[in-house]
Amino acid sequence: MKALVLGATGRIGNAIARELLNHGAAVSAVSRRVQPPENLIDLDLDYRSGDANRPGQIESWVAGHELVVDAAAPYHLWLFQNAPSAARLASAERQLSALLESVARHNCAFAFVGSQATDDRQRPMLGRAQARILRLLHPYFELKRRMESKIRRAMRDGLRAVIVSPTFCIGPGDISDPDLAFIPMTVNGALPATNSHALNVMDVRDVAALLAAAVAKSAFGSSIAVVGHNTTLEMLTDLICRTAGVPRPRWYTPSTLAAAAAYANELINASGLREPDYPSVGALLMLEQGWALPNAAQRKLGVELRPLSRSVTEAIDWYRRRGVLHPRPTASAH
Ligand SMILES: NC(=O)c1ccc[n+]([C@@H]2O[C@H](COP(=O)([O-])OP(=O)(O)OC[C@H]3O[C@@H](n4cnc5c(N)ncnc54)[C@H](OP(=O)(O)O)[C@@H]3O)[C@@H](O)[C@H]2O)c1
Repeated sequence: MKALVLGATGRIGNAIARELLNHGAAVSAVSRRVQPPENLIDLDLDYRSGDANRPGQIESWVAGHELVVDAAAPYHLWLFQNAPSAARLASAERQLSALLESVARHNCAFAFVGSQATDDRQRPMLGRAQARILRLLHPYFELKRRMESKIRRAMRDGLRAVIVSPTFCIGPGDISDPDLAFIPMTVNGALPATNSHALNVMDVRDVAALLAAAVAKSAFGSSIAVVGHNTTLEMLTDLICRTAGVPRPRWYTPSTLAAAAAYANELINASGLREPDYPSVGALLMLEQGWALPNAAQRKLGVELRPLSRSVTEAIDWYRRRGVLHPRPTASAH
């Protein structure tokens, strides 16, 4: 099978490219980088550099493939960027329309990495109210909702597509900015506080295995929420700190307060008073987290999940090898 992976340099897309290669697929990997970065160089794949926003780019990538995986869906990391939010939403929708048209034209199967923040079906009333508020507060949530509705419409019109929506992901292979990535931030002492908010955590490699199984079993026409290990923010940070041998965050801040502080900080930064430092979307997404058990659709895929401790150990090994872990010296070290 010839597979195209959009976002193969990203956290989840990289694991998907590896999973498909392990299953014998011929993989084309795309990203905006001119050269394949460190999480792709050891892989036997066809690397193509380009920007999905460039007219005609998606069409030229899709041609010649049987499966297209989109793990590069635009998401709004920052509250404000150089264009107004409505323009950013319109551009992301245009990009997705071009992709869906191309996938249909070339009769490809399509797998999309979605987000559980869009799923209103399983929420209690209070949860639905919170989801609406978050959509008003940050364009991330509205963008995700619109993209997935568009794909669901295309599925109803006959597109062979599956949406796989994971919870919070960790694992090796991440080349994102370590100042914004959860594990390096925790190890480097840049996570100021923790709390007992419920959290569900998945290994990117398990997400990749679930997505590949959904394609192999032709689970097209469905939107599958996949879940991993139930824990809390405090238990996860503890596990990371113990594994890396660093002190745990000192402070305890309830998640709503942490989200409000992160949001206020981003607003102040965006007003030009300070340099933008940290996006609030992570803290807002935390509010959407909860415990969950695998549903029937996930169980049917038959993927056994790695233990959380193994994911943490292997992710820390990866960040160590990248040289991005710089724990602050503890008081006793002086
Ligand atoms: N990470 C999580 O915990 C999590 C959980 C649930 C859902 N998700 C969803 O899963 C998807 C992937 O997330 P992720 O964390 O893996 O993202 P990520 O690490 O930020 O990776 C994004 C990927 O998209 C590529 N990309 C972005 N814009 C592009 C463009 N214009 N043209 C070509 N490539 C482009 C990037 O490539 P280059 O930068 O190399 O060009 C990169 O490979 C997102 O839609 C996210 O919302 C993530």
